[in-house]
Amino acid sequence: MIKALYPGTFDPVTYGHLDVLSRASRLFDQVTVAVSESNSSKNTTFGSDTRVTLVRDNLNKFVNVSVEPFNGLLVEYAKKIGATVLIRGLRAVSDFEYEFQMAQMNRHLDNEIETIFLMPNEKYFYTSSQLIKQVHLYGDRETNLVPPNVLAALRELNKTNEDMGRDSE
Ligand code: PNS
Repeated sequence: MIKALYPGTFDPVTYGHLDVLSRASRLFDQVTVAVSESNSSKNTTFGSDTRVTLVRDNLNKFVNVSVEPFNGLLVEYAKKIGATVLIRGLRAVSDFEYEFQMAQMNRHLDNEIETIFLMPNEKYFYTSSQLIKQVHLYGDRETNLVPPNVLAALRELNKTNEDMGRDSE
């Protein structure tokens, strides 16, 4: 039985992530989506509980996928839950350098854990959580790149920010 871990910040989860997840779920017996609770190089928009819930609410169609928050080193978390494969999505070439470094470092830390890259459907090649958040910060266009619960969370967030802005005027 091969258990895979699909780690990330998922701030928030997009259809691109879910596309990669669906490919991983077909390849491996079990997949755990590991949502990073803290990421020293990123200030997250959504708290880790919300990021986990936004993923969890989209897992109904998968029978072998679960989601958990994680802290600390990824390879140690993988070992703890018995995962031997790390899944990462690769979109454009620009992802490669960062992903290559991370995979090499993870291999250096634990040679028994293998990183496997999966490409999402090309319609998600330019989907990033960062850009989607920007679209919602400056306007309210429906991108069709995030599931309905994420769209609602983004709208709620912007409404709260607008209300706070008005209150401080
Ligand atoms: O979605 P992201 O932000 O690209 O995910 C990055 C993540 C969370 C997978 C990465 O930052 C990570 O693995 N963090 C845990 C700390 C760790 O193990 N770092 C060593 C790998 S270089």
